[in-house]
Amino acid sequence: MKATVVFDSYFGNTEKIARAMAESLSKTESVVCKSTTDIERAEVEGTDMLVLGSPTRAFQITDRMKSFLKELKSFDLNCTIAAAFDTRIDLETIKSGFLRFVVDTGGYAAKSIAKKTAKVAGLKDLPYEGFFVTDEQGPLKEGELERAANWAANLLSS
Ligand SMILES: Cc1cc2nc3c(=O)[nH]c(=O)nc-3n(C[C@H](O)[C@H](O)[C@H](O)COP(=O)(O)O)c2cc1C
Repeated sequence: MKATVVFDSYFGNTEKIARAMAESLSKTESVVCKSTTDIERAEVEGTDMLVLGSPTRAFQITDRMKSFLKELKSFDLNCTIAAAFDTRIDLETIKSGFLRFVVDTGGYAAKSIAKKTAKVAGLKDLPYEGFFVTDEQGPLKEGELERAANWAANLLSS
C-alpha cells in the first residue's frame, strides 16, 4: 500500500512529527513524506493512505495547509484511509488560567483538517490527533515522537 504524509511547519516540530509517522508507516508501506509546497499532485492522487498535518496557529490551520486543502478539491483522490493531525501548545505549560481557557476553547487545526479532507476524499469521520509542544516555537513534549509513530501505525488497522 502507498501512504503519503503531507505537512506544514514553521519551526520544524510538525515536520518531526510527520517524519516519525512516515518512518513508522514505512515498516510496512511505501511512504512519501513532504511539505505542502513540495508534494506533487501524482503523489497524492496515487496514494491509498493520506495523512495531513499542520501547526495550530491562532486556533486554526496554517495558511499554507489551507491553500493545499483548497487545491486538493481538484485532485482525483483514491485513498481509502485518511487522517489529520496538528501540533499545539500543551495547556499544562500555560501559567495564566485565562490564557489556558482562551487557547483551549479557541480550537485546534486537526479537527478542521479532518473535516475538510473527509469531504474532499468522500470519507467520513476521519481520525485526528493533536501533538504537543511545550512553548510557542517548540520543542515537542517528551514522548510525542513515539506517540506519533504509534498513532500512525494504528491507522492501518482502523
Ligand atoms: C503566531 C502563533 C500562533 C499560535 N497559535 C496557537 C494556538 O492558537 N493554539 C495552540 O495550541 N498553539 C498555538 N501556537 C503554537 C504553535 O502550535 C506551535 O508554534 C507549533 O505547534 C509549532 O509547530 P511548527 O514547529 O511545525 O511550526 C501558535 C504559535 C504561533 C507562533
